[in-house]
Amino acid sequence: MTARQNATSSSHDLFEEIVHELQAAEVFFGHGAASAEEETLWLLAHVLKKDPQWVNAHPQVMLTTAQEARLKTLLHQRITRRLPMGYITGTAYFAGHELIADRRALIPRSPFAELIEKRFQPWLGKEQPQRMLDMCTGGGCIAIAMASVFPQAQVDAVDVSADALSLAAENRHKHKLDSRLHLIQSDLFQAVNGRYDVIASNPPYVSVAEYRQLPDEYRHEPPLGLVSEGDGLCLPLEILVQAAGYMTDDGLLFLEVGHSDEALQAALPNVPITWLLFEQSGSGICVFSREELLNYQAEFSRALKALTDTPHES
Ligand SMILES: C[S@@+](CC[C@H](N)C(=O)[O-])C[C@H]1O[C@@H](n2cnc3c(N)ncnc32)[C@H](O)[C@@H]1O
Repeated sequence: MTARQNATSSSHDLFEEIVHELQAAEVFFGHGAASAEEETLWLLAHVLKKDPQWVNAHPQVMLTTAQEARLKTLLHQRITRRLPMGYITGTAYFAGHELIADRRALIPRSPFAELIEKRFQPWLGKEQPQRMLDMCTGGGCIAIAMASVFPQAQVDAVDVSADALSLAAENRHKHKLDSRLHLIQSDLFQAVNGRYDVIASNPPYVSVAEYRQLPDEYRHEPPLGLVSEGDGLCLPLEILVQAAGYMTDDGLLFLEVGHSDEALQAALPNVPITWLLFEQSGSGICVFSREELLNYQAEFSRALKALTDTPHES
């Protein structure tokens, strides 16, 4: 970027320059923004203390020299350290909500955002869920989005990581959900009680071998949020084995396994899995009724045992 000591630049000019620099540096996109353009709006929004939609709608706003200098410093960090944009700005966006983001948890990017904005349709029908669970909540994005879309619901959110839960607590407070969103520190369902109408879960599902190949941006995120033993499938399969015990009779489990969808299907050859389709982006979320989970419980247990009995790369 050209140095401008005494002048100010328009957000439009800077937008073009930053997009070019991000593309030329071949940074990895996928931590909450799918392109250089989206990341640039995010960065400009942070420096201007506005939201990305506002920046997009005001392309000719002038930045002060100090703002432009700050922009360059942050862009430098993004490129040289491969820091994901969410950790640079300290914010992330999920299902229309601004959240606090930092290294205590992964940066929100799940296709659950679209599913929740669509009120889990058509799966939920006219049901008004009373109790909802976000299993593996991280910084709380799915729980907060569910609590916002379903104002009548009590939402519980589980994570094993005290760090992640402390970030979730800050996000809960930011969204004024202290009375309706309950945070639970638990290894999966160990400390969970009662039954839920909806369980949503985005657990770790990256295999150890895949983790080693990921772009540098992932190194800044807690591995506990990414990696699952057994070719990435142990935690998802544990959830499939246990979830029915925590669901109402008509309850639904929505489980994300991302690009491990084919591996999950291969591990469960006798289970017809319903995969959801997304209009915006993303894939790898499946849905099970409680009845289906009970019908196939032996298959889930068998697949889990096969994975845990097989020695894997550690
Ligand atoms: C993929 S992140 C999902 C975070 C957030 N829900 C999202 O969609 O961005 C998975 C989360 O699972 C948590 N986790 C890992 N193992 C767990 C376990 N055994 N029980 C509960 N949570 C676990 C991690 O700490 C991490 O926050």
